[in-house]
Amino acid sequence: MKIIFFSAQTYDKTFFNKHNETFGFELEFFDTHLGPHIVHAITSAEAVCVFVNDKVNADVIKALAANGIKIIALRCAGFNNVDLEAAKKYGLKVCRVPAYSPEAVAEHTLAMILTLNRKIHKAYNRVREQNFSLKGLLGFNLHGKTVGVIGTGNIGKAFCRIMIGLGCNVMGHDLSEDQELKKIGVVYKSLNEVFSQSDIISLHCPLTPETHHLINRSTIVQMKQGVMLINTSRGKLINTTDSIEALKTGQIGYLGIDVYEQEEKLFFKDMSENIIDDDTIQRLMSFPNVLVTAHQAFFTAEALNEIALTTFENILQLSSGMEISHKGALLC
Ligand code: NAI
Repeated sequence: MKIIFFSAQTYDKTFFNKHNETFGFELEFFDTHLGPHIVHAITSAEAVCVFVNDKVNADVIKALAANGIKIIALRCAGFNNVDLEAAKKYGLKVCRVPAYSPEAVAEHTLAMILTLNRKIHKAYNRVREQNFSLKGLLGFNLHGKTVGVIGTGNIGKAFCRIMIGLGCNVMGHDLSEDQELKKIGVVYKSLNEVFSQSDIISLHCPLTPETHHLINRSTIVQMKQGVMLINTSRGKLINTTDSIEALKTGQIGYLGIDVYEQEEKLFFKDMSENIIDDDTIQRLMSFPNVLVTAHQAFFTAEALNEIALTTFENILQLSSGMEISHKGALLC
């Protein structure tokens, strides 16, 4: 059975080739995104394997079905880039990797918080230039601060545990409350309460029509002056233009983003020789209190091993008509 990979990076090839020694699939890797420009070139494969910025809309799915593709395997947790209704209509199975390593993303979230707070990015460069002054590096204790976590699923839960461990007061907001988290001290609150009471707000809910631009001008004004906002979930949870306005007034005191509304044109590519045609991200990167990482929160060896293994197991089980063993992996 042949699987065609899109948006494939060197590390994808390394980890998938390693695990394929057990599975024995035929693999083909393309570094380009899946989209209307390439979908007609797909032949003689049964499955495509896609990532966060591949465009799997109705037109692409129709063409995939016409070219004999039976399975769309996402090698990520989020699936907002796939039109599931169209996949059902054309009889394609769609699977994902629901929980490969929630700790990878949760720990990166903490890294962003500590970097922004203790200004590690500035200290690193400063000391290398033999400037040992502490001017401008003042931070605050995380211990005792109130942290609001929006979305307490796999990643949000791992993040809550870390922040409880640091001695923070953790407030959660989700469509359903997690009893284990409540037992360790997480208090569930309304969205408005999370916005108005948190010193740090971290987003861990999926991108859906309800969460699109969850952070916008009218929700930002509810937040504490100087709030720290962290987004490792999906870029479109934040209205970036509104966040820039709030950074200019100081309403947002710190912004850490691992995801960005228009990231598909930039992230996962070396653009160091290019002129960036995106004034919004350029403005964001001009603020000293903004930290941007390029969708790397998932990027640990443990996570990549788990992603490759689960993706192959999903495909094997689907192609042999078995029930998928990974809970939450089958989307349709
Ligand atoms: P999950 O499905 O385990 O948890 C998501 C939680 O959000 C669920 O508990 C759900 O009830 C809740 N939720 C849904 N709609 C909500 C709403 N309107 N308000 C509040 N809560 C809501 O997903 P998981 O694995 O924790 O991942 C969360 C998100 O993180 C993914 O959707 C994905 O976008 C992002 N992600 C980012 C990565 C990165 O490298 N930056 C890597 C993996 C995931």
